[in-house]
Amino acid sequence: MRNILILLLLGWAAAANAATPLSATDAAAAHELAKNNGCLSCHALSEKIVGPAYAKVAEKYRDDKDAVATLTHSVQYGSKGKWGRIPMPPHPSMNVDEIKTLARWVLSIDK
Ligand code: HEC
Repeated sequence: MRNILILLLLGWAAAANAATPLSATDAAAAHELAKNNGCLSCHALSEKIVGPAYAKVAEKYRDDKDAVATLTHSVQYGSKGKWGRIPMPPHPSMNVDEIKTLARWVLSIDK
């Protein structure tokens, strides 16, 4: 019983974590991370470049509770056919926690 309670609490914490907006500091750090990993050569916040505008990605996944996992997977392993004919290459050497931070940041963009 105790274990179940702990699991419930952990699940709640994880869900709250995914839904919590990033602080301004976290958002600035994530923006820097995106810059340093080349994301911004293909993406901008509010316009389409090679890839979709991050604001559009946030809009599309707004009500999707699995969005952080889906976007993390797309960035890590690449993505094709969801937004158009140009695929996104995979990012196999990036740290997964950093990719997750980027996914949460992208989802927080509202423009
Ligand atoms: C070479 C260009 C390119 C680079 C570099 C790039 N992307 Fe993309 N990205 C794309 C394209 C093109 C798509 C649309 C893919 C599709 O249609 O499925 C995309 C899609 C996405 C999506 C939406 C995925 C989905 O499942 O809907 C996210 C989030 C994203 N990129 C984030 C990033 C992040 C974060 C980085 C840096 C680590 C990055 N991208 C680097 C071109 C790029």
